[in-house]
Amino acid sequence: MIRFRRPLRCLWDFFRKELAEVLIPQKKIKDRVATLGAAISEDYAGKDLVIVCVLSGAFMFLADLVRHIYVHHEIYFMAASSYGDSTKSSGVVRLLLDLEANIEGRDVLIVEDIVDTGRTLDYIIRILKARNPASLRVCVLLDKRERREVDVPLGYVGFEIADRFVIGYGLDLAERYRNLPFVAVSKEESSD
Ligand code: PRP
Repeated sequence: MIRFRRPLRCLWDFFRKELAEVLIPQKKIKDRVATLGAAISEDYAGKDLVIVCVLSGAFMFLADLVRHIYVHHEIYFMAASSYGDSTKSSGVVRLLLDLEANIEGRDVLIVEDIVDTGRTLDYIIRILKARNPASLRVCVLLDKRERREVDVPLGYVGFEIADRFVIGYGLDLAERYRNLPFVAVSKEESSD
C-alpha cells in the first residue's frame, strides 16, 4: 500500500520559505466560521436566503461557511476586481461577472473574503441595492479596518486584522496561495 505523508506537513514544507508568518491558523478559522454560520442561521431563521459570493477571494470562505448555515438558501456568484497583480489596490473596481438571479424582494447576504479600502464592497452593495432586495447584509472574513476609505456596513465579521498583506484561505498574491488552509503574511509584503 502507498503511504502518504501528512498533507498539511507537505503543504507547509512547500510554502514555508515564501511565508513570513501564519496570521490566523486553520483551527481558529474553522471555529470562527462555524460561529458565523450559526449566527447567520439564527438571524435568518424561517427565511429563504440568497447568498452572493464575491469571487475569487471568497470561494473558500463560502464553501466552509455554507456548511454551517442551516436555513434554506441559494448561492450565486459575482466577480469584481480591483487589485491586478499588485499588493496595493488600484482603486478602480471592475465588474467581471454579474449575478444570475433576480434578487428583488429577497433577503440577500454578500459573502466576501476581505474588506480593505471598502471600494469593492461599496461598488457591489450599490449594484445590488438598485435591484431592490428585501434586505442586504455583508458577511466578511477579514476586516482591515484601518485601511478604510469608504464606509461599508458589515453585518458579520470573522476577524479584524492589521494593515498587512495577507494571503491564503482564498486570498491571493498574483493569483497564487489561494489554496492555503490558513491566513498568512507573505515575505513579499516588505517588497512593495
Ligand atoms: C480583493 C478582495 C476584495 C477586495 C477588497 O479582491 O477579494 O474583493 O480586494 O479590497 P477593497 O476593500 O480595497 O476594495 P481582488 O480585487 O484582489 O480580487 P480577487 O478576489 O479575485 O483576488
